[in-house]
Amino acid sequence: MGAKREKIGVGILGFGTVGTGVVKILLSNREEIRRRLGVPLELVRIADLDVDRDRGVSVPSGVLTTSAEALMDDPGVDIVVELMGGIHPAKDFILKALSKGKPVVTANKALLAEHGEELWAAARDRNLDLGFEASVGGGIPILRSIREGLAANRFQSIFGIINGTANYILTKMTEEGRTFDEALVEAQKSGYAEANPSLDVDGHDSAHKLCILVALAFGTPVNVKSVHTEGIAGISTMDIEFARELGYRIKLLAIAKAANGEIESRVHPTMIPEDHLLSTVKGVFNAIYVVGDAVGDTLFYGKGAGMMPTGSAVVGDVIEAARNLIRGAGGRVPPTGYHEDGRRALKIRPMEEIECAYYLRFMVSDTPGVLSQISGALGRNNISISSVLQKTRHAEHSVPVVMMTHRAVERNIRAALNEINRLPEVSEQACLVRVEGEE
Ligand code: HSE
Repeated sequence: MGAKREKIGVGILGFGTVGTGVVKILLSNREEIRRRLGVPLELVRIADLDVDRDRGVSVPSGVLTTSAEALMDDPGVDIVVELMGGIHPAKDFILKALSKGKPVVTANKALLAEHGEELWAAARDRNLDLGFEASVGGGIPILRSIREGLAANRFQSIFGIINGTANYILTKMTEEGRTFDEALVEAQKSGYAEANPSLDVDGHDSAHKLCILVALAFGTPVNVKSVHTEGIAGISTMDIEFARELGYRIKLLAIAKAANGEIESRVHPTMIPEDHLLSTVKGVFNAIYVVGDAVGDTLFYGKGAGMMPTGSAVVGDVIEAARNLIRGAGGRVPPTGYHEDGRRALKIRPMEEIECAYYLRFMVSDTPGVLSQISGALGRNNISISSVLQKTRHAEHSVPVVMMTHRAVERNIRAALNEINRLPEVSEQACLVRVEGEE
């Protein structure tokens, strides 16, 4: 048991959207939290450069400060919550708080994807909790489930929709015929998008989150640079329409699979059958399949972004850190869920070696022989076509030809597209969307 405590003090670095959600929860659910914890969680300090803006929540007097140092030095702050985002100075502040013996809770997925190993080691070395549930899946308790509830399993795959903004954009494009730009502006207004929305639409936010999922599920360090990452900016309404006609939806998926001692780890737009559960996930919602050898398929669904859902995950971590402080059991569960001696570096499978089915769209001049040239190139590269869709002549001089393939090796697809893109009848680079969810 730790020393008896009358209360646990919380300090928050960063009073933005998520910080505001955390404050609202700490204030409005104060009594419920006290009943769970046995002592109150007290909001002691909030540090932000802007202490004047009205966030729609009334903060107890004396709590706001512009000094992160003052917050970390405050003896009344037992747990530090980092919600500033970005790498610097967030990383230095987390390390500093840990060096002062204070457990930390963060929602900073980019920081963890790039520097997780260093931060996890710093927490572990001091037997301190470093909570980061809010970094993946917003309010969905996915990390705690992988680390604890499903700890009996060897994981086979983890895949799903883990960026609310990209899913919101694709949903609006699919269901309301919005353009990409219109949908992005709406997502930004709703407060879901990253400060730099390129992180959302170019797939990097999903890649950061996938690194964290892979580290926890497979007990391996993972470098974000080794995650193949494609965003949704190249998806046109034409492809969304063809997908619909063929019985599919297009989603930005993050996919990790165990494959013969290696890990597939990739983020890209993906066609999935319209009756697949992931196809029904709309707007800012996230959904993550976790497949374990003992448990089989599990699916986690909920709001993947936003003030209150993300605040829920942060406060859940704060409560866990507080419980462990009270019991003198800091660091009871290792940050990645693996004992430090049990972690192993696994190879990330090169993208050229993955295998799946493909949707290919070519823009070609409507002349005799062009289809046979394309199918010839696919055949020479050992790619079998499962269906072809050719639209009648448009006013323009090129027409779309869509081909669905059977499962093929990515290296062969790339070689075939290299040949096809050079044909004089082909007017623009082929559009490729990988197909999953049919096995
Ligand atoms: N920008 C992120 C998203 C926020 O849209 O999912 C949650 O990490």
